[in-house]
Amino acid sequence: MSTKLFDVVVIGGGPGGYIAAIRAAQLGMNVACIDEWKNDKGGPALGGTCTNVGCIPSKALLQSSEHYEHLNHHFADHGITADNVKIDVAKMLARKDQVVKQNNDGIVYLFKKNKVTFFHGRGSFVAAKDGGYELKAGEEVIAAKQVVIATGSNARALPGVPFDEEHILSNDGALRVGSTPKKLGLIGAGVIGLEMGSVWRRLGAEVTVLEGLPAFLGAVDESVAKEAAKVFKKQGLDIQLGVKVGEVKTSKKGVSVAYTDAKGEAKTLEVDKLIVSIGRVPNTIGLGADVVGLKLDERGAIVVDDDCKTNLPGVWAIGDVVRGPMLAHKAEEEGVAVAERMAGQHGHVNFNTVPWVIYTSPEIAWVGKTEQQLKAEGVAYKAGQFPFLANGRARALGDTTGFVKFLADAKTDEILGVHIIGPFASELISEAVVAMEFKASAEDIARICHAHPSLSEATKEAALAIDKRTLNF
Ligand code: FAD
Ligand code: NAI
Repeated sequence: MSTKLFDVVVIGGGPGGYIAAIRAAQLGMNVACIDEWKNDKGGPALGGTCTNVGCIPSKALLQSSEHYEHLNHHFADHGITADNVKIDVAKMLARKDQVVKQNNDGIVYLFKKNKVTFFHGRGSFVAAKDGGYELKAGEEVIAAKQVVIATGSNARALPGVPFDEEHILSNDGALRVGSTPKKLGLIGAGVIGLEMGSVWRRLGAEVTVLEGLPAFLGAVDESVAKEAAKVFKKQGLDIQLGVKVGEVKTSKKGVSVAYTDAKGEAKTLEVDKLIVSIGRVPNTIGLGADVVGLKLDERGAIVVDDDCKTNLPGVWAIGDVVRGPMLAHKAEEEGVAVAERMAGQHGHVNFNTVPWVIYTSPEIAWVGKTEQQLKAEGVAYKAGQFPFLANGRARALGDTTGFVKFLADAKTDEILGVHIIGPFASELISEAVVAMEFKASAEDIARICHAHPSLSEATKEAALAIDKRTLNF
């Protein structure tokens, strides 16, 4: 039997890989995608980390737990009361699994629609051959003229403390906890720590987060981080900064974490479950990188140039397995750009306008530079800020926490960064991304008609604040 030859083989069916495969197929290439993720029944589960144990299930649990929180604490303000409010964690998890499955199935449909051939199993390099590559796709051997590697990342474990997913949980186990733990510990107050900490706190867990760095949310604009710290503390998240984690011991009862706090005092945290969320490591396990001489850096990430080209001819790499932020939409943009480059077009990813969102309540979202970055770079800038407290829609929603903040070039008024903490920040940030893509000035936004009453008026007002001419504050 002859080896099946494809124009492009994509290894990995996460948001980077499946989008690259679809775009390449749209551009007329004969495409295959290999993905090894298995669902609980051993079948395929396309969508990678994002769909199976990342973006999608975490947002499903954030939504369920937020409903519960509203019913318990906020609906009474609206005159709505309910007795005997209960949470059925098993049902909440089953709904989350159903949401995941809808997304898995959606990608299977998209592959059929776009005529992408799917192989379920591990993809690995066998040899460079005939100007292309021979690859294993599960049990089959196939050939590709070009290869896109989109093998993603895995959770980083504490040294010497492997995940058992029973007591010491990665993001995977954190999304499967079968009942609300009485006491939950998290190592790392990053994105996962705050999102998963919020879920289980809302459901009644006593949550302690141990963070190694002395500053909270160091990559976030300082004023937003300060506001977030205040709100999360009020909500009951115990976030301890500047700690040094020592020995972690598990027993039938739970987990004990020895640590020294910021003052150097030795302490122990006793919890039922411990989520370790201290970042992620690029995944090239079993890819056969060494067989073909694919270059990795010291972190294990695949080395690529600005166009996502690796050191091997016709081999590209995208998403979490390469440099840059580990975000699904960044992986997708790289997937589209690489497919277009393979077709001889000029795909482009603008890293300056990749938005970030933390889906806590309040949500935190930003794009572009923070105030501390502009200061460090010596850029002359103006800042404008508008609180949701002064926004009619936020008052009607009953959610007036936070603000929108604009940073613009002092001379040209070009928008350099936008930072939002507050309701629907994840949606509001899109306007800022569009504006920055079009190199808009703060005045451009200030002169655009925004619907009333809407949260987006806070964005317009923050742009007006740059010139100290807010109308409603
Ligand atoms: P992945 O999604 O990791 O996909 C890689 C795929 O390749 C996997 O299916 C894997 O099984 C497969 N694979 C690996 N090696 C092989 C091989 N040799 N052969 C065959 N298949 C292979 N990002 C956001 O933008 N927004 C969010 O809200 C968000 N929430 C998150 C929440 C959590 C809890 C976590 C952990 C992450 C979250 N992320 C979020 C990050 C996001 O999930 C990743 O940035 C994104 O999934 C990266 O996409 P990718 O395609 O590079 O890799
Ligand atoms: P993270 O990089 O966001 O945060 C890790 C935190 O752990 C940091 O604050 C770091 O200082 C701290 N830390 C590291 N080592 C430590 C140690 N030994 N002791 C104590 N603290 C320590 O990583 P996280 O939360 O694991 O998430 C991984 C990535 O997944 C994120 O960076 C992001 O790219 C992606 N993600 C995105 C989401 C979103 O877009 N909403 C949601 C969740 C994850």
